[in-house]
Amino acid sequence: MPDGRTLVERACRGERAERLPVWIMRQAGRYLPEYRKLRESVDFKTATKTPEIAARITLQPLERFELDAAIIFSDIMTPLEGMGVKLDFDPGPVLEKPVRSASELTLLDPEESAPFVLEALRHVRAELAADKALIGFAGAPFTLFCYLVQGQGSKDFMEARAFLRAEPAAAGRMLDVLGTSMSRYLTSQADAGADVVMLFDSWAGLLSPDVYRRFVLPVTRRIVGEVRAASRKPVIYFANGAASLLSDVRDVGADVVGVDWTVPLPRAVERLGSDVVVQGNLDPAALFAPEAELEQAIGQVVSGGAAARAHIFNLGHGIHHATNPDRVAFLVDRVGEASTVSAVEASR
Ligand code: CP3
Repeated sequence: MPDGRTLVERACRGERAERLPVWIMRQAGRYLPEYRKLRESVDFKTATKTPEIAARITLQPLERFELDAAIIFSDIMTPLEGMGVKLDFDPGPVLEKPVRSASELTLLDPEESAPFVLEALRHVRAELAADKALIGFAGAPFTLFCYLVQGQGSKDFMEARAFLRAEPAAAGRMLDVLGTSMSRYLTSQADAGADVVMLFDSWAGLLSPDVYRRFVLPVTRRIVGEVRAASRKPVIYFANGAASLLSDVRDVGADVVGVDWTVPLPRAVERLGSDVVVQGNLDPAALFAPEAELEQAIGQVVSGGAAARAHIFNLGHGIHHATNPDRVAFLVDRVGEASTVSAVEASR
């Protein structure tokens, strides 16, 4: 940490350092026995709303593994409660009733309606080593819209996608309220100590490029611009399943683009441009392969990432709850090894 910035922050700015930074989407969660133990005495929602507990869960994976970042323990749906939406988790989000109009949503005031998230960030930043980055996050407008309109999880979010087509003006107003709210939410998280913020667009891959460009790109791009201008901190945008949308994803203008495991990184870079910083993209299922194959898959992601300006190693989506934590320790170790070797080779 020569200049006081973490490896993750340096990578976000396009710098390649002595080793690749690594963290794992959903790194705090059910695959960890210490998380399951803690959850025996507290339900998910209470855990996310109690800063001391959320902070403890956030730090659990860093006590076990040599990760380069902590991501705040919360959920993309958590701030929606502060916008007037009644919901629960079972284990995924379930709404009391679906939302079909912006008039059912109030603009989020993060300090007023989600102070526990900001408090949890302050707790974690105070306890986290200075060489580890703290990541704040929010759901991207379209992904939140999917859950709001559908009322719960779905394989194809048909009702949400049909609503976009049937009521484009109403849908646009909802996306706009979500956009302004998440822009404020990420800026508040940056102010509370997040070094980097990330937008999760888990369901963007359901859209055709024309619908993505019409409804999703403008509002997502607006958030990135506003957060960056207000906080001066980097923004990561992860659009899951977006292999066919990558050139539009580039236009969102994020500092870092998260890539899912279905696109080899060199191919993603062809579409995104070689000046892009990528995050990803090991298949979460690779953690179930024999060690030699896992090691090979890790090596492929490390060398694939060399096509980009800089790279943050991660999975291509959240870690599966049945994953053996020992494989995560192996992964973190191998990423360190593989990326040190390739950094040496690159400098020759
Ligand atoms: O470690 C981290 O990454 C931080 C915590 C985090 C959670 N949810 C905790 C959680 C993050 C970043 C999320 C984001 C999230 N939540 C997304 C976007 C990322 C993605 O996976 O695409 C989405 C779509 C959700 C909605 C959601 N919340 C689902 C679908 C579920 C249930 C299924 C599942 O994967 O666990 C949740 C509940 C949830 N969020 C749990 C956790 C640890 C499980 C709750 C439990 O402990 O029982």
